[in-house]
Amino acid sequence: MRDLVIVGAGGFARETAAAVRAVNDLRPRFRLLGFLDDDPALHGTERVGLPVLGGIDRLAEFGDTEVVVCVGNPRNYLARQQIVRRLALPADRYATVIHPSAHLGTACSVGPGTVLLAGAVLTAEATVGEHVAVMPHVVLTHDSRVSDHVTLASGVRLGGGAAVHLGAYVGAGALIREGVTIGEWSQVGMGSVVLRDVPPGEVWVGNPAHRLRAAELPTPAATGPVPQVNGAHPEPEVAPTPDQRWTMPTVVGS
Ligand SMILES: CC(C)(COP(=O)(O)OP(=O)(O)OC[C@H]1O[C@@H](n2cnc3c(N)ncnc32)[C@H](O)[C@@H]1OP(=O)(O)O)[C@@H](O)C(=O)NCCC(=O)NCCS
Repeated sequence: MRDLVIVGAGGFARETAAAVRAVNDLRPRFRLLGFLDDDPALHGTERVGLPVLGGIDRLAEFGDTEVVVCVGNPRNYLARQQIVRRLALPADRYATVIHPSAHLGTACSVGPGTVLLAGAVLTAEATVGEHVAVMPHVVLTHDSRVSDHVTLASGVRLGGGAAVHLGAYVGAGALIREGVTIGEWSQVGMGSVVLRDVPPGEVWVGNPAHRLRAAELPTPAATGPVPQVNGAHPEPEVAPTPDQRWTMPTVVGS
């Protein structure tokens, strides 16, 4: 067992703690130490029975513990990438948390720092990048591709070969037609039915989905520049090495 610290203490962080406990109930895997959060009002308090240990900068005091960054909401879905940049940790420090009721089908893979909550399903040859939030009952069908720092809210469904690019936020229950692409840092409203490609940096809503407005990402903190929302992001996406990606273990006897 390795120690694990969850960065953030909000809703997604507590959901991840619940997933970690479900993993440990089957086979002890993580020693969950608690949360780190920059909100001083939370320091010294408990969330879901675990301590909020202090601000994010305290992480260095915990040695080579594993980490998972669980921040972000529909109004600030840039935050996870900003914290990952601030931490500047090697990929092997990041845990991949997969709820035991999630299913990874043939040749599916999930990157470090990514969380799959209960009931998520990846059918075949679906790939999920690093630091991705996959909420309950998301379904990624064959050949779908989800890039780093994406958030897929509960019940999102991607048709075959659909792609969600860097940092995009797909709202609860949205349906993405097969082969359609969601551009970098774009946002799709809850319940939308996306039939056409969404360009980078836009908010789309409705059925069929249409452009609502430009995406408004918050002002960057001192942690690094805001990615360009209407062009290439400033850093190339670096693919993790194969041994840093998580695939379904072969079941003995199957
Ligand atoms: C898309 C979204 C970001 C827009 O938020 P917003 O910019 O504050 O938009 P507003 O609420 O001011 O609505 C603007 C217009 O878009 C419409 N609209 C907003 N969200 C919509 C949606 N999901 N589907 C259809 N229309 C939507 C509103 O009805 C309104 O239309 P009107 O101008 O004709 O009255 C937000 O509604 C949304 O869906 N967020 C994702 C929520 C989610 O998935 N949460 C999961 C949490 S785990």
